[in-house]
Amino acid sequence: MPISECSIISLPKFLDPRGNLSYYETGLQIPFEIKRTYLIYDVPGGETRGGHAFAEQKEFIVALSGSFDIVVQDAQGGKQVFSLNRSYMGLYIPNGLWRHMENFSTNAVCLVSSSTHFEDRDYIRDFEDFKNIFK
Ligand code: TYD
Repeated sequence: MPISECSIISLPKFLDPRGNLSYYETGLQIPFEIKRTYLIYDVPGGETRGGHAFAEQKEFIVALSGSFDIVVQDAQGGKQVFSLNRSYMGLYIPNGLWRHMENFSTNAVCLVSSSTHFEDRDYIRDFEDFKNIFK
């Protein structure tokens, strides 16, 4: 899977003096059925999260608050850094790409919506294995 399959998705925005509203929905903004969401928060300065690939899982990642970078690598040697710092946009990452998150700001909250239920066997944690599987 090449990195070009990743995309920043802008969410609808309802600007309102009472506070703004954005949403995303399976089949509208999100090109997979959302089965699970999880949160990453209270990340100490300098820490990284992720650092693996998924065989099947596709995901959509939003910076609900604060900011962080998502570093995506493909098995062909491509690498791209996506900076997220707005709650009305997110990054779609298909399966078959290596990714980690870094440069978390203080109070950053990362929301991940996933196409699969949690399955430890879907994780590919060794970069050499990843390259061999997806090359
Ligand atoms: P993990 O995905 O390995 O986090 P990271 O890639 O950022 O290091 O998840 C950390 C732990 O949380 C691991 O023991 C599995 C557990 N976990 C669940 O039980 N359910 C989930 O949906 C997720 C994402 C993780």
